[in-house]
Parts: sequence; C-alpha cells; structure tokens
Amino acid sequence: MDQTLAWKPWEKPGDRHLINRIQWGKPEVANLERVLQADWFGYGDINEEFEKALVDSTGISYVHLTNSGSAAIENGLLALKADGRWQPGDKVIHPVTTFATSISSAINLGMQPIFIETQPGTYVADPEQVIAAVERFPEARGMVLPHLLGNIPDMDKIKRALGPHRFLIEDSCDTMGGMYDGKGIGTFGDVTAFSFYGSHHITAGGVGGAVATNDQRLQVLLKSLIFWGRDFRPGDADFLKRYTYETLGTDSQMTGIQAAFGLAQIAKLPTYVQERAKQFSEMTELFGKSDYFDLPVIHPKAQPSWFSYPVTVKTSAPFDRSAFAKYLTSKGVEVRPVMCGNITLQKPFARVPWHSLTGGKFPIGDSVEERALFVPCWGMPEDQKADYYGIVRDYIQRS
Ligand SMILES: Cc1ncc(COP(=O)(O)O)c(C=O)c1O
Repeated sequence: MDQTLAWKPWEKPGDRHLINRIQWGKPEVANLERVLQADWFGYGDINEEFEKALVDSTGISYVHLTNSGSAAIENGLLALKADGRWQPGDKVIHPVTTFATSISSAINLGMQPIFIETQPGTYVADPEQVIAAVERFPEARGMVLPHLLGNIPDMDKIKRALGPHRFLIEDSCDTMGGMYDGKGIGTFGDVTAFSFYGSHHITAGGVGGAVATNDQRLQVLLKSLIFWGRDFRPGDADFLKRYTYETLGTDSQMTGIQAAFGLAQIAKLPTYVQERAKQFSEMTELFGKSDYFDLPVIHPKAQPSWFSYPVTVKTSAPFDRSAFAKYLTSKGVEVRPVMCGNITLQKPFARVPWHSLTGGKFPIGDSVEERALFVPCWGMPEDQKADYYGIVRDYIQRS
C-alpha cells in the first residue's frame, strides 16, 4: 500500500486502540481530486452518485444527503410536521438510553418525550414498553427509535404497537448495514437517519449524514427542507423559481468534498460490516470467559451492524466500571460510557417537560448509566486485535 495515499498501519508502541479508525486510500483521494478539479464544491454530480449508491445499499427509495445524522433526524421531524403528522405540544416516544440529538430536535421543535426503558442487555427500546406507552398515552404521535450502538429491537412488536397512523423515525446513525428479518434497517420507518461521523461505519470525511424514506411526498419535503426550503417541484423555468419556497427550511446540505469521500467509503461498507461482525463474535468469546460482564443481547431476528462492543459490569464483580475503564485507558484502549444511559439525569433534559410510565424512575437506564461501557469493535487488523485482546484478557484473568 502506498503509505502517502492511505491510512497509517497500527503501530506498537504508540498507537491507541480507538473506537474507530478511518480506513481511507486511493479511491477517496481520486474522488476528492474529481471535485477539486470540477471547481464547484457544493451539491453536484458526486452527491447524486453517493445518494444513488445509498439507495442501492439501503434498499430505501429516496436518500438525501445532509451535513450530519443529527440534521437528518431534525429534517425528518420537520418533513413529518410539514406533512401534518404532528404539531408542537404533541408527545413522542423515546427510550431513556439514547444519544442526545436523537431526541433533542423533537424537544426543540416543541414535542414532549414519553421516556421508556430499554430491554436489559440490548441498549435498545423494550417493545413491551412501547406497547404500554401507547396504551397509557394513546395521543402519542410517533416514536424516534435509536438503534443504539448498532443493535436492533423487536421491530414487529414496535411497528404493531405504533399502528398505521403514528410516525416512526428510525435513528440508524449507529447501525448502517444492519438487518431485521431479512430486511435492511431503515426500511421500517417513515423516515430513517444515517450518520457518517468519523467514528461510524463509513464517513463522509469526518462528518455527514443522510435522511431516507420510501414516501414520495416526504422526500419532496425533505429535499426542500435541506436546501433552504426551496421549491424543487418541476415548473416553469421562470428565473424567480430560484427563490421560491415550498417549506420553512434549513441549510443542512452536504458539500461535494464530503460526498466524494463518502462515495468511496460506501463501496467498502459490506466488507466493513462483515469485519465488524467477525470482531464482535471474537469479543463475545473473550468477554464470555469472565463471570463479571453482562454481554450484549441480540433479538433472534436481528442482524445488528455493531458500532462498538458494549458490556455491563455486574454488581457481583470484584471491580467496578470505573476501575475497568481506568485500566483500559492506561493501556491505550478508548472506552466510553453507553452514551446517555438515563438521559433524564442530564441537565438540559431534566429541565424540559417529559412523561414516563414509571413515575420518572428508570432502573434499567440507571444500570446502563452506572455500569455499562463500550469499547472498540470495528474490524481492526489482526496484529492490532492480538494486542487489544491481550489487554482485555489480562484484566479478566487477574480478576
Ligand atoms: C444513535 C445516534 N443518533 C444520532 C447521532 C448523531 O449523528 P451525527 O454525529 O452525525 O450528528 C449519533 C452520533 O453520532 C448517534 O450515535
């Protein structure tokens, strides 16, 4: 490999075991050159090619690039609002174990979350809680569902509970390439959001995202919302059309430079997903040798596309999460808490109106908040894996 045109190999000593490394090479550089030579760095041919590749890869009919996964969620909500599916003051179901911007846009736009628990060991929504939330709050207008860390909940039960009139936004930011019952993730919701942030499965050069839908009406709204609210419907060629508006829009567009990088990456997604799955199995074997970790639980119909490897330190362990995290950090392994284990404990979310089934108590969310963490699992090269697994094995053998 030409090292002047590709990511550096992992080297010991010195290199850490990071949550992800961006694996780039000549195809990314060639695409970037193509955009630079074209002398236009905004939305262009390469963005259209990336969108087409995403349609092919996800099996979703319409994909629009955005500048982040967070913007994809926000625009999804705005499109559903413009389509009359909800209005400010309405309630939206969301698990308490989440990533902040999975729910913050809904709150900013005037919705009130009904927070529910996740199913133990899965870090994703408990379908029984979705059923209970709909029974208790039948006026709920929809759900934003994060496939957190790449795992996938029981989509049959969740879809059935929501029924035909409530909206579903799949937050697939962590789970590109995941499947449920043989169907691609993102095909279950009215809208789905993907993220191309640098630590995710593929990246559009550091940040980026996409919003996708099978609904033609929503896709027209999404395109308009992403591009300042412009009216893109075919019409007369009047020069005034440039500043004619269809929606109260945002500017959430992705640049051509980002799309160039992303287009080269999407071609490699199947390999990345396979390599992540292989490493996930190896890590299950590794952590399974200890009695002190709750391992991730997968629904029998789900084929997750893991973002990382999550574990929860058992209360019976002779060490706590903090001791394990400190050890890993001292050995150069990046370790993170499971995002917002219980988001209601976070200052900005504690202050806004929200509802619950449990009088505001979330014992499962609290156990994630206090005892869960996630570590790298991105399909790293074999020499790096050997070093990384050795670090984990040493701790397990000593405790
Ligand atoms: C579950 C989830 N949703 C949404 C996001 C936001 O995506 P982005 O960073 O592209 O805005 C993230 C984090 O990146 C995430 O992990």
